[in-house]
Amino acid sequence: MSRVIDQYQKACQSLAGGVSSSTRVNRAVGHPMYFDRAAGCRLWDLDGREYIDLCTSHGATLLGHGDARVRQAVEAALERGAACSYENEQHAALAELLCDVIPCLERVRFTGSGTEATMHCIRLARAFTGRQKILKFEGNFHGYHDQVMFAIGTPADQLGPEDRPNPYPGSTGIAAGLADNVVIVPYNRVDLLEQAFDQHAHELAAVIGEPIYYNAGCIIPNEEFITAMRELTAHNGVLLIFDEVLSAFRMGLGGAQEYLGVMPDLCTLGKAVGGGYPLSVFGGRRDIMDRLMPTGDCQHSGTYNGHPVVVAAALAAINAYRQPGFYDHIHAVANLLYDGLTQLFAKHGVQASVHGLGARFGIYFGLTGEPRNYRDAVQHQRDHMLRFIKAAIAHGVYFHDYGGAACHHGFCAAMTIADAQEALRRLDAAIATSFSPAS
Ligand SMILES: Cc1ncc(COP(=O)(O)O)c(C=O)c1O
Repeated sequence: MSRVIDQYQKACQSLAGGVSSSTRVNRAVGHPMYFDRAAGCRLWDLDGREYIDLCTSHGATLLGHGDARVRQAVEAALERGAACSYENEQHAALAELLCDVIPCLERVRFTGSGTEATMHCIRLARAFTGRQKILKFEGNFHGYHDQVMFAIGTPADQLGPEDRPNPYPGSTGIAAGLADNVVIVPYNRVDLLEQAFDQHAHELAAVIGEPIYYNAGCIIPNEEFITAMRELTAHNGVLLIFDEVLSAFRMGLGGAQEYLGVMPDLCTLGKAVGGGYPLSVFGGRRDIMDRLMPTGDCQHSGTYNGHPVVVAAALAAINAYRQPGFYDHIHAVANLLYDGLTQLFAKHGVQASVHGLGARFGIYFGLTGEPRNYRDAVQHQRDHMLRFIKAAIAHGVYFHDYGGAACHHGFCAAMTIADAQEALRRLDAAIATSFSPAS
């Protein structure tokens, strides 16, 4: 009997659904994974089986598990008592560092999760503009609060017309009427974005979007679309929020805004910013951020905001991302892994494409062209993806399936070229078994 399965059954007796986060059940295997220990790019489950991690804590552990520099910083913070709910000198040091490396940041605030960061950004945008509505892109994910849980994971047959997508709620229990505050537009469609601005510009507080749409694998906005997003918002007094919870630090120190050369008014950072510890950040233009209390009238507070342990971890992590050669290594591993995987699918006659940027990527089964948005991505062959992930796990490579459209996968900086080659060898065997004519 597997200790992993045993543990799931035990957890289900007291933990709702057996998990602390609903998406932690890996749909490809039908249960959450139970990892006993982790180091660098590797994980060991309760049965002692070893995996190369291509989930990387859903993007949080960009350095790898148990990084010594982060650990040392955390231990030093603990040693000093980790007095939370007060300020210390590291808060301003981290704020200064972030303002140095992320182009749009003039002022920042720390909070606990990506969900909280987008929630506070949207409140601040409403306070600053005095307007109610937000425009979000179909399928873009901004966390779990009620304002943004629309057009998330919409089933292909319920998308509605392209020029008026269904504000499909991503959960039950969302207060009635909230969908009226949200204007939805498909990603990478300049014509539909312009049309939405013609109708709604005067009532929009903000446009919020994923500047690299990693939540559908990896979709890069075309230049015309991202330029229009910036120009339309600027001309209409609408704030542009880049949700960089997943994209920050992924392909370069300045995140997607630096990569694209487009400066938002506000942005959110999460996941990698905390180096594996629960920190998120929102920030941007000084005149907007000054609307936060105590200088302004918009509330953002929280007992655990900027916990000294996570602030120390973030400082250590970002200093590691700043080391010379850090992103050269990320791009070298990315090229090897994404090209290698593409070749493996071709070798085994499986129709699948791999799209990645920096340390995160998506795999699209059965799509002919490059996906532009959720409507394209949702057409992928989900059964093939589940089959692939299940086989990969059986062969010692951990991918996570979140349910819904294409997933995002990724690797960490601790992954060496040799680790990536080993992952590809394991995946060669996995693809051979899962897509052989007999399977
Ligand atoms: C782009 C984006 N925004 C927000 C969130 C929510 O972050 P968290 O899970 O930390 O609340 C996520 C999480 O995956 C995300 O990818």
